Amino acid sequence: MIKVSFAASRPEGAYALAIPVRSEEMVADRLGGLDEAARALAVRAADAQRFEREVGAIAETFLSEGDAARRLLLVGLGGQQAEGDAVCEKAGGALTARLLTSGETKLVVDLSGTGLSAREAARLAFGAAARSWRYDLYRTKLGRKQKPTLEELVIVGAADGAKAEWAHQAAVLDGLDLTRTLVTEPANVVYPETFVARARAALESLGVEFEVLDEKAMAKLGMGALLGVAQGSVRPPRLLAMRWNGGKAGAKPVVFIGKGITFDTGGISIKPALGMEAMKWDMGGAGAVTGLVKSLATRKAKVNVVCVCALAENMPDGNAQRPGDVVTSLSGQTIEVINTDAEGRLVLADAMTWAQRTYQPEVMVDLATLTGAMIISLGHEHGGMFANDDGLAAALEAAGKASGDKLWRMPMNDDYNKIMDSQIADMKNSASREGGSITAACFLGRFVEEGVKWAHLDIAGMVWADKASHLYDKGATGFGVALLDRYVADNHE
Ligand code: BES
Ligand code: MN
Ligand code: ZN
Repeated sequence: MIKVSFAASRPEGAYALAIPVRSEEMVADRLGGLDEAARALAVRAADAQRFEREVGAIAETFLSEGDAARRLLLVGLGGQQAEGDAVCEKAGGALTARLLTSGETKLVVDLSGTGLSAREAARLAFGAAARSWRYDLYRTKLGRKQKPTLEELVIVGAADGAKAEWAHQAAVLDGLDLTRTLVTEPANVVYPETFVARARAALESLGVEFEVLDEKAMAKLGMGALLGVAQGSVRPPRLLAMRWNGGKAGAKPVVFIGKGITFDTGGISIKPALGMEAMKWDMGGAGAVTGLVKSLATRKAKVNVVCVCALAENMPDGNAQRPGDVVTSLSGQTIEVINTDAEGRLVLADAMTWAQRTYQPEVMVDLATLTGAMIISLGHEHGGMFANDDGLAAALEAAGKASGDKLWRMPMNDDYNKIMDSQIADMKNSASREGGSITAACFLGRFVEEGVKWAHLDIAGMVWADKASHLYDKGATGFGVALLDRYVADNHE
């Protein structure tokens, strides 16, 4: 990712200069540093490109600087009423998207006279850095023009306090980087044991405490639901707990739980071949909560948080579980496994019970790429939220809006819940397709203990993108890291 710094005035030497603009007058005003001819050229070039200062729109021109040419970019901030933080993030991302492989190595964004707040400046830098993330580890034959050139962003003329705001955003970026890397790595590289090893390597030196249960420990406790999913794989499962104790000693932690299916073939209820490679990112929930720990630990957040990852691989095999099998969960409740492809709820059920028994949380939030039906409902614009508490739902929704990781609340009640009753066991793990995300949430709800405020975020449509946006290229989005960091910062610190 590109390096970000702040400066009082424009540096010497070669760089591309970006000037954010909101209104038409601002275009002329903000070009004050240029001579008359250059200013006229920039304004005419913007007109010729039909630049109307839409959020993230860019008008480009070149100015002569001695015997060199300086690239000048006007970037739109939308109209006066446009939402500040999100707009700035988009503008920053749009600049990076334009310049990443352009040949430019340095970008200077001049904010003097824009009136942007310190937070807006930091979010602009966040957007620019987040959009520069790539994972080229396995691309050994990238051509010269495919390789990123942009290395550095310098923000000039930011409001006082921008550096402190940036320190927070930089920590979130560190988390985002870890999440995207875990999600992008293929399933022959990141599987339960190596997920744990990577989390340790990234977090132990920051003071995060680890507890890891292997299959023996889980069997001893009676985690029949999680172990049933894992039994068809040669890769053994793990339950990973990461504790960040930055808050008051003894204060109950907030608990986040991530679905960590490192590959989901569907098991014996096997998925069709087309697109199955996508199921390497069925650990996106686990990836998100691990990135959150990185962010909290990096910025030394004053809060106690535990993140738990339910890590397993779902494979067909002579030893795999069968449709119709009955498993006993750690909670003691029995489950008829109708469909081995409804595995996420099985591993989460045991992880939730274990986390509640171990940490007695007041608040528990799980993140999971749980159902294809969620993508049918909300597409790729919102994650689905299910909650048993209106206050928690409102706080998460607000954090979603503030961070850009948007959530939409879905219904949950007894009528949906009873659909999951089974003839032979306490419940079944799958029913008909109708309302599939809701019945999945109701299944999870059966593992929430009395008095615990709980939310389930079904992020199946949000973890991976088939097209680039202002914040990411095609691929892993890192959804959930900025959301949970914002939620923790606004509600628990
Ligand atoms: N990991 C999938 C859900 C998923 C599908 C996530 C597509 C992202 C993209 C999950 O384990 C699954 O297979 N769910 C089934 C549930 C069904 C069998 C009740 C589904 O959605 O079809
Ligand atoms: Mn599945
Ligand atoms: Zn799955």
